[in-house]
Amino acid sequence: MDHTSDAPHATRLATLPAAGTQNSCKIDVNGFQVDAVDGEYLIEAINRSGIQVPQVCYHTRLGPIQTCDTCMVDVGGKLVRACATKVTGGMTVVTETVAATAAQREAYDRILANHVLYCTVCDNNNGNCTVHNTAAMLRVDHQTYPYRPKPYEKDMSNPFYRYDPDQCILCGRCVEACQNVQVNETLSIRWEDEHPRVLWDGGETIGGSSCVSCGHCITVCPCNALMEKSMLGHAGFFTKLPNDTLWGMIDIVKAVEPEIGYGPILQLSETEAAMRLARVKKTKTVCTYCGVGCSFDIWTKDRHILKVEPGEGAANNISTCVKGKFGWDYINAEDRLTKPLIREGESFREASWDEALELVGRRLNEIKAQDGPDAIGYISSSKCTNEESYLMQKLARAVGGTNNIDNCSRYCQSPATQGLFRTVGYGGDSGSISDIAQAKLVMIVGSNTAEAHPVLATRVKRAQKLHGQKLIVADLRQHEMARRADIFFRPNPGTDMVWLSALSRYMFDNGLAKAEFLSQWVNDVDKYRESLAPFTMEFASRVCGVPMETLTRVAKEFAAAESACILWAMGVTQHCGGSDTSTAISNLLLVTGNYMRPGTGAYPLRGHNNVQGASDFGSMPAYFPGYEKIADEEAFARYEQGWGVKLPKNKGLDNHEMVEAVHAGKLKAMYLIGEDMYSADSNANYVGDAFSKLDFFVVEDCFFTLSCRYADVVLPASPSLEKDGTFTNTERRIQRLYQALEPLGESRPDWQIIQDVANRMGAKWAYSHPADIMHESASLAPMFAGVTYDRLAGYETLQWPIAVDGTDQPLLYTERFNFPDGKAKLYPLEWIEPCEKVDDEFNVHLNNGRLLEHFHEGNMTYRVPGIHAETPHGFVEVSPALASDLQLVTGQWVDVTSRNGELRTQVVVTDRVHDKQAYMPLNRPMDPVNLLTGNKTDRATHTPAYKETTVKMKTLPWKGPDPLPPLNFRHGHPTPQRGVEVERKWQRADYRVPGSDNGLVQIQTGQRKG
Ligand code: SF4
Ligand code: SF4
Ligand code: SF4
Ligand code: FES
Repeated sequence: MDHTSDAPHATRLATLPAAGTQNSCKIDVNGFQVDAVDGEYLIEAINRSGIQVPQVCYHTRLGPIQTCDTCMVDVGGKLVRACATKVTGGMTVVTETVAATAAQREAYDRILANHVLYCTVCDNNNGNCTVHNTAAMLRVDHQTYPYRPKPYEKDMSNPFYRYDPDQCILCGRCVEACQNVQVNETLSIRWEDEHPRVLWDGGETIGGSSCVSCGHCITVCPCNALMEKSMLGHAGFFTKLPNDTLWGMIDIVKAVEPEIGYGPILQLSETEAAMRLARVKKTKTVCTYCGVGCSFDIWTKDRHILKVEPGEGAANNISTCVKGKFGWDYINAEDRLTKPLIREGESFREASWDEALELVGRRLNEIKAQDGPDAIGYISSSKCTNEESYLMQKLARAVGGTNNIDNCSRYCQSPATQGLFRTVGYGGDSGSISDIAQAKLVMIVGSNTAEAHPVLATRVKRAQKLHGQKLIVADLRQHEMARRADIFFRPNPGTDMVWLSALSRYMFDNGLAKAEFLSQWVNDVDKYRESLAPFTMEFASRVCGVPMETLTRVAKEFAAAESACILWAMGVTQHCGGSDTSTAISNLLLVTGNYMRPGTGAYPLRGHNNVQGASDFGSMPAYFPGYEKIADEEAFARYEQGWGVKLPKNKGLDNHEMVEAVHAGKLKAMYLIGEDMYSADSNANYVGDAFSKLDFFVVEDCFFTLSCRYADVVLPASPSLEKDGTFTNTERRIQRLYQALEPLGESRPDWQIIQDVANRMGAKWAYSHPADIMHESASLAPMFAGVTYDRLAGYETLQWPIAVDGTDQPLLYTERFNFPDGKAKLYPLEWIEPCEKVDDEFNVHLNNGRLLEHFHEGNMTYRVPGIHAETPHGFVEVSPALASDLQLVTGQWVDVTSRNGELRTQVVVTDRVHDKQAYMPLNRPMDPVNLLTGNKTDRATHTPAYKETTVKMKTLPWKGPDPLPPLNFRHGHPTPQRGVEVERKWQRADYRVPGSDNGLVQIQTGQRKG
């Protein structure tokens, strides 16, 4: 047996080329000719052929880790591990020689020495347990080696999952997933230990470790050693029994096993597993949090969420982050809104739907009649579905008679969209997450990707760790991606546009611009080149505060990269020059020819689960669905005809303008859905004042948010798990979500409520299912022409634009850019200083953004007890230098005051921030950071300049404990290694390859605990 048949850490996430390509070949397996691909792993060819070979540690998404030895087969007379042996055409394989069968069985017997088969009373007995299924496949009757428990206690210290060393078969899948897929590098197995087990941070409790609770390890565990706590005692019929009773039953079964064998015992457990199917519902859904768009099956028993099981999602396959994997308890929160509420004086009373809808319809119609259609504003939600966004803009335009319709992409994404409209023509990511993974270089600007888009970040971390991808990060904070970067630099706040433009100039000046690409595909090159005159490296270095050498190094690396992607987010867009910086990014990509090829392009990372779709489906003042301008006469006529009404032509208000219009007395009513605008818009006091001036205000949400305090009517909506529809992720990927639960109480899906409101206002809508709405949208918007629910069934997806025949476009620009002549444009820019800078009084720059574990204003995640336990409080990060100036320590209370408001919070001293720059998470449901942010906006799009906020801090005389409790992963110390490092197992004195030596010695384990 050759241990080096393949490096165990050389694993892949990509799918191998299918048979039939030029590498295809035939191999002989058990006398059958089997299609294979030269160079693929033998196990994959065997699995496709339908021939069964045990393979406990192999997982298609992890590749060969070679720890279990159950996949031994005979190749040319030699025993090899099928999972790690590469196919060569013509090879002869026998899976069932006496030696191979004995080796497989021997390997499995060793597994049973580490694992008790108590399947009937196990919460993992759901038909998909690898250890159970392998016992059945091998027809294991009796166990050769006695079970030996390990001398360690169960670890229950994480809020979401537990580890049971006594059931752990040491396959290392979890280690591989944590080290090389999630790349959190928390898990390891110290193979040299007398009694190896899985270790967190080399020996910490899970709760005290760097574990981010992403759940990858649990997802890939082939047995019940790692389990979601939400499964324990809930999945099986007998699993809730008290421990003593359970172990009594297990002991009885073990006592009869020598006599009757495992066969009947496994059959019994399979019957029990089949019974579970009747009460456990598995529903495919799409994550409700960020724009990565992870899909998974959610397992429910009544309203109890058993677990989230990823595996087939186009954007994420086995990956999740803590929010998608564990962040769902809010759906059963006691304070969910379950009945409509109507204001009475200073309080609210419950009302029937009929009464509430009648009031909403009547008042909106009265205001429309009295003050005109433009006196009402409609705000759609980036948490709602595409179909709901479509209906909301149709309500505003076709029923309300106004283009006053917007969504919260105004708060983050509009500048990125604008930058792409100016240069390449479509306002979406130019490729897929897989392009980012395969790029030779990734540059991240103003994005805390590991916390804001965690699963997408794993692809970059993995590519950098295993495949040599270069990573350049420009950010104010030294967050995880910055720590991992090959080059990290901190430009002065709001100056990214300058160094990006200087890089473009450097490319031209040094012959590094891609002349051929520019001449074939790009207009306005000379004009743009002239505009770059001021952007020398010296100028950029001075304005941005970044050494020239650093900028030059970045330029050279970027120019040298065979393919490059740039990722950016709110650190770029939420500035007065957010659109210009986004444009500068796209300009640089054009100059260096980084469009139109796999592994290249522009990736503005969309924040909310459906912030892309909310705009795509028309909830914007100037656009119909699919970004057709209201001013486009052909499109305008098409919608008038399609909807059978006269439509408004005049310019609508965006949500920033709506707030101003309320203050100016022009906007009298608003209908706001799925958005806590008070917390999410900048300058919360100003927004709250506007709300209190409205004549009539309708808020539709799942919870009584801070915005609801100002409402006249509050309508209870259903969250994503309680409805059907589609979301569009950051890759322009449309994905279906299916209803997992009935709406709670009297809450209703938003599409039904919007339809009810429309009908109360006089429409005659009769949509019976979101599919009807998508059908109508596809019939009117060319961008979605080929979208049907059938084409999106299950885990199928489509990336827009989608032709009538269903052809979609994973890579956005292949044959042309989205301009009439098919050419992109270089867009000249002028440098304008940030609109707010520190001064003597407001001497600290306040940055703000997301946290991994909480989302947006926190209305959902603060209602998840496990997340709340990990991160219960708001805080402000200050640098050691600022802490020393202000005599601050972690836990100290401070008053933070800006020109717009103030709040009180606790300090975390950390070198993630530097100098006089502070950082505050935006997820604070009670006193949001937007009490401090101001009214200045991006010059082109009105996106608030949240990131241009200056404050002063006053140290208060009280100090509490660290606002981040010991349970928080930020206190941990990861233990990076190449993967499971199985070679170290093979070097143990007591290890022998199965089949190589009859005198094999099993790795010793401890004695069973009482
Ligand atoms: S970070 Fe934690 S939950 Fe995620 S794979 Fe690693 S150990 Fe598991
Ligand atoms: S806990 Fe890890 S090593 Fe143990 S059985 Fe599960 S995946 Fe394998
Ligand atoms: S929050 Fe984002 S990264 Fe996390 S599971 Fe949901 S979609 Fe995926
Ligand atoms: S499946 Fe091949 S060694 Fe485990």
